[in-house]
Amino acid sequence: MRLTIDDVRSRFIKHFDGTTGTIYAAPGRINLIGEHTDYNGGFVFPGAVEQGMIAEIKPNGTRNIRAYSIDLKDYYEFSLDDEKGPRSTHFRYIFGVAREMMKRGVKVEGFDTAFAGDVPLGSGMSSSAALESTYAFALNDMFGGNLDKMELAKVGQATEHNYIGVNCGIMDQFASMFGQKGSLMRLDCRSGEYEYFPWNPKGYKLVLINSCVKHELVGSPYNDRRQSCENVVNAVKANKPNVETLRDCTWDDLESVKDKVSEVDYRRAKYVLGEVDRVLAVCDALKAGDYETVGEKMYETHEGLSKDYEVSCEELDFLVELARDCGVTGSRIMGGGFGGCTINLVSNELYATFVQECKVQYKKKFGKACKIIDVFIGDGARKLS
Ligand code: GLA
Repeated sequence: MRLTIDDVRSRFIKHFDGTTGTIYAAPGRINLIGEHTDYNGGFVFPGAVEQGMIAEIKPNGTRNIRAYSIDLKDYYEFSLDDEKGPRSTHFRYIFGVAREMMKRGVKVEGFDTAFAGDVPLGSGMSSSAALESTYAFALNDMFGGNLDKMELAKVGQATEHNYIGVNCGIMDQFASMFGQKGSLMRLDCRSGEYEYFPWNPKGYKLVLINSCVKHELVGSPYNDRRQSCENVVNAVKANKPNVETLRDCTWDDLESVKDKVSEVDYRRAKYVLGEVDRVLAVCDALKAGDYETVGEKMYETHEGLSKDYEVSCEELDFLVELARDCGVTGSRIMGGGFGGCTINLVSNELYATFVQECKVQYKKKFGKACKIIDVFIGDGARKLS
């Protein structure tokens, strides 16, 4: 069952003395292919999901934000003008977004808010981007900001960088802002150009298998992966000063610095160059209706993420191998890694058997349950009332 407006409104009324405000929502995301390419100026291929965050918001005539997390039953009041802000992560996202909006000239005032979400936490479906995008969209609308959607996505990304400590790319916030029901999007993270691809694969479904290993990017080696990429770019720059990201590097450029960078950095960059090519191959395959090739590329991505980029774990590798054994068309880690979900392209005939096998075999191997999440592509950030 999906979260509804009423779930949030009833709590807002209870918490804020019978008043009501305006309701906004923004979704989590999936990504068909193009992982760890966004901060390298490459391509990504995400779509918004139906699960997301819903928030009710009402200006309160002060300089304070009074926020209630319905899921965590946690309340906190903090000032917009305090430099430090709250420590709890869920309130910090809201604080960070408000501050980043102010930095961009939006006249944010104090407000009361209650919020809840149905993106499984730690699943790699970007519940954090859903939260950031909800508030970025809402504060822009409510306080007469005129930031465009790309700038609002950047507000979310800057919140991660400056208030949470994750040096993420733009994919999650882009998907959460720009999502469109029934379509995936290919974003060129270097130029910012994007294209909608209707997603209606005849005979196939997308399903996520949540390993329930909690994916956590704060304090994880995510920033370290990004650093490896930058190390290689800096080495290439010595000869080619115009190179800004790995996207600008050719395979020859990479080979030319093989002896100048560490073996680990070299391997990681090799994965990224391959992944940039794979996204384009998948786009061509999709246009031709060739889902077998799409699936093959997904397995290749997993191989690279697991062996070269090293962001997998035993549980995720197991789920991908299980998919392969079942004859599933494509399967791989989705999102940043270090836990969370695999994304699987499954033919309709195999779906029931595959899902059943995952439940049984995962439990047998790890003594805990995995969760099945069917993918429905939904809309991006919006006002609900
Ligand atoms: C996380 C980050 C994104 C992206 C993915 C990996 O979701 O927030 O910017 O780097 O990992 O593709």
